[in-house]
Amino acid sequence: MRIDHNFTGTTIIQGDTLRVLKAFPDDLFGGVITDPPYASGAADQNAKQKSTAAKYSSAKTNNLLPDFEGDSKDQRSWTHWAAEWLAEVRRCAKEGAPICVFIDWRQLPSLTDALQWAGWIWRGTLVWDKTNSRPQRGRFRQQAEFVVWGSNGHMPSDRKAPVLPGVFRQSMPAMTKRIHQTEKPLQVMRDMVRIVEPGGIVLDPFAGAGTTVLAAKLEGYPAVGIELSPHYAAAALNRVETEGNVPQAVAA
Ligand SMILES: C[S@@+](CC[C@H](N)C(=O)[O-])C[C@H]1O[C@@H](n2cnc3c(N)ncnc32)[C@H](O)[C@@H]1O
Repeated sequence: MRIDHNFTGTTIIQGDTLRVLKAFPDDLFGGVITDPPYASGAADQNAKQKSTAAKYSSAKTNNLLPDFEGDSKDQRSWTHWAAEWLAEVRRCAKEGAPICVFIDWRQLPSLTDALQWAGWIWRGTLVWDKTNSRPQRGRFRQQAEFVVWGSNGHMPSDRKAPVLPGVFRQSMPAMTKRIHQTEKPLQVMRDMVRIVEPGGIVLDPFAGAGTTVLAAKLEGYPAVGIELSPHYAAAALNRVETEGNVPQAVAA
């Protein structure tokens, strides 16, 4: 795998985030946008040990994607681990850098605890409205996931970033088109990375199929993605190289 260490372009590094991050200097990244394994998607500890395909994929799909890493921790170990990587990414983030972390309703309280234990200022919770979900009679639809966001200390009000929405409304990529079981919509990630000031390096410590890194590249940011699974690290690199060079339509 090719690794570009100059951080002016896009880089995908295969490895364990906690180990890889230790090699980075302090104050490097302009923002952290990520979607860690939730270790959720199950009603009890036994169900949590199932494959990620069984937890997160539709049984009807013909597109069988490989399982991904790190999704079977119990509650306390997940929270402890989250605080650990959140502290390490904060060390590598610039003063005032924003962080956005995807999560579901079950892990939301643990994530907001871990974020603050790690020293980030928690600034709010965004909603990702997936617009649909499996209907269950007599229940509310589980059609939203959340994005906990914050900053590494003080965030000046004159930052060079636009006003961004608090709700992102976009369905999941079609199962037949996905290259990762829990792939996020590219347009949502393109809108979200704009919270980082121009020129800031975007870090995604759980890159999966590289959606954040690709979005950052398409929006003109340098970016680094870290992914433990060799399969997904290779898929992310290939995707960023092939889809990241498509000329973008310019409004007349
Ligand atoms: C929820 S997925 C990210 C999906 C991504 N947002 C996308 O759109 O493709 C989380 C990813 O983190 C990876 N992962 C889990 N533990 C990790 C670790 N310790 N270090 C690096 N990557 C890890 C998993 O293999 C998985 O691909």
